[in-house]
Amino acid sequence: MGSVTWGSGSAVPERRAPGAPPRGPPLLSPAPARPYGADMCGIVGYVGAQSAQDVVVAGLKRLEYRGYDSAGVAVLADGGLAAARKAGKLLNLEKELKDRPLPGGNTGIGHTRWATHGGPTDANAHPHLDNAGRVAVVHNGIIENFAGLREELAGRGHDLTSETDTEVVAHLLAEAYSSSGDPAEAMRQVCRQLEGAFTLVAVHADEPDVVVGARRNSPLVVGVGEGEMFLASDVAAFIAHTRDAIELGQDQVVELRRDGVTVTGFDGRPADVREYHVDWDASAAEKGGYASFMLKEIADQPKAVADTLLGRIDGSGALHLDEVRIPPSVLREVDKVVVVACGTAFHAGMIAKYAIEHWTRLPCETELASEFRYRDPILDQRTLVVAISQSGETMDTLMAVRHAREQGAKVLAICNTNGSTIPRESDAVLYTHAGPEVAVASTKAFLTQLVACYLVALYLGQVRGTKWGDEIRTVVRQLSEMSGAVERVLGTMEPVRELARSLASHDTVLFVGRHVGYPVAMEGALKLKELAYMHAEGFAAGELKHGPIALIDEGLPVVVIAPSPRGRSVLHDKIVSNIQEIRARGARTVVIAEEGDEEVVPYADHLIRIPATPTLLQPLVATVPLQVFACELATARGNEVDQPRNLAKSVTVE
Ligand code: M6R
Repeated sequence: MGSVTWGSGSAVPERRAPGAPPRGPPLLSPAPARPYGADMCGIVGYVGAQSAQDVVVAGLKRLEYRGYDSAGVAVLADGGLAAARKAGKLLNLEKELKDRPLPGGNTGIGHTRWATHGGPTDANAHPHLDNAGRVAVVHNGIIENFAGLREELAGRGHDLTSETDTEVVAHLLAEAYSSSGDPAEAMRQVCRQLEGAFTLVAVHADEPDVVVGARRNSPLVVGVGEGEMFLASDVAAFIAHTRDAIELGQDQVVELRRDGVTVTGFDGRPADVREYHVDWDASAAEKGGYASFMLKEIADQPKAVADTLLGRIDGSGALHLDEVRIPPSVLREVDKVVVVACGTAFHAGMIAKYAIEHWTRLPCETELASEFRYRDPILDQRTLVVAISQSGETMDTLMAVRHAREQGAKVLAICNTNGSTIPRESDAVLYTHAGPEVAVASTKAFLTQLVACYLVALYLGQVRGTKWGDEIRTVVRQLSEMSGAVERVLGTMEPVRELARSLASHDTVLFVGRHVGYPVAMEGALKLKELAYMHAEGFAAGELKHGPIALIDEGLPVVVIAPSPRGRSVLHDKIVSNIQEIRARGARTVVIAEEGDEEVVPYADHLIRIPATPTLLQPLVATVPLQVFACELATARGNEVDQPRNLAKSVTVE
């Protein structure tokens, strides 16, 4: 049941679906050991002349990638406050609102949640209200001192009905507002009492034209419109209305009115903010006729690859990474590079290691951000840490960045999201220009991360003099041809789709590769796991005979990424042997091989051709068939590719 409440100043009358049980007794104690927080979520606020419900729900639709376990909305209207919340995808909330529309109002807030603690139930869904139903609040984060605050509130006669930490905030805001009569001051007072991570957006029924927000950790961006203002976790929520944005900093409180925005610190002092214009438009965050965002984002890749190179190469073919504000003198002193990232970004980082070591002769380690700081890594002023993150909000990566900087290392972020936390906390950033990536499974972000990694590696080579100008120009030219190569791959994907459909009933698919083909194999396996919910693993082909080859059974599909037969042909010779070993044990081989590579043909049950490229750049083309394969196979299994089960796009918890 979605609870729809309508507060007019005193108690909150509860509306229930026919036959639904009444709300349970207040849960005052014991408090759960860990609050039912809302650690990874999308939040939206609106004040203006349009229907707040419509604007907020449309905004939530664009933020659903941040979590889709529950959703809710609250609107101020006729001197009161009305709210609806529903477990499950936004669609459930939309149905609820269709059956029981909220009264029309022009100020509102909304939330979409990814549950970490506490089930994805109606009761745990946001917004949360105070007892009088005058305050509604949505929250992204965990309030660590909520148990103590809850007890104190109970002692003062508050009736807390859920186990969430967020409800505490609604009650505290109601108290603070009743003494100050100022919604922003109330928010500041409350924030000063809270510990942990909390980005909050709230409304009060006594202030029908005001939305207040607070940011600590998770992002919060203001959208500045004509006579209307927006507040959201991501500009995607309001891009259909305005491209003028204000990024809030840490520990800031914002008050939105139709015609103005006031930002202060938690201490009430005026705060500095960054205003910017979003350089993509609403169509970039829409499916544009594709069946899924993932398909659209796969198709966007040639442009994303080209855009990421744009403006970074001069007429003579030399690199100009003006954004990399780490002085060349400092880069020349670097004696080690450490790449930190998670998931798909980690696979880009694995490939970066090959490029950095090859082009700069600097030792480079690539490490899972979630493991990094726990092993006491050796870092100092001469270490360059490269942190790769599409969202710029991944908590594991952020923590690795903080740890590295505490040890004196310089941090260069490679990021796709303008103004997000990781670039803000790094010494420099190289933005990828993939445009918004909405599907949970990363595709175009990965290819652009690769381009950025190649640029960083070449730039280090240029600055440190380990690559001659003409060598750099050659690689840069090869890189600029990659957009066309990706386009050609996309034009030949029908057999890959057919193959994927034919393998839909299998339980396991293995992926193997050598050199940069090894991270590509891991990326292919990750895509299949997260989308098709199949057992999939990526191995270094040379490791097979050290154990994993025992997995091979009659008919088991094994995807092999064959390196170029040109250049380092020894790698190619080895993989040809590996394919034969696999096939001799009954595997059904799917070989991804360069055009003109005839040697693999006798051992390939299925052959997928990719354009010939330099060895180090091959991942840009070899990954694409694996993305298409996973997407098609998942679809054939009836899975929803944009929102795979149990996942969220930005993982803002450790
Ligand atoms: O936003 P980030 O690049 O930091 O995200 C890292 C991973 O969570 C992400 O790449 C994840 O593995 C993708 N869903 C994989 O497709």
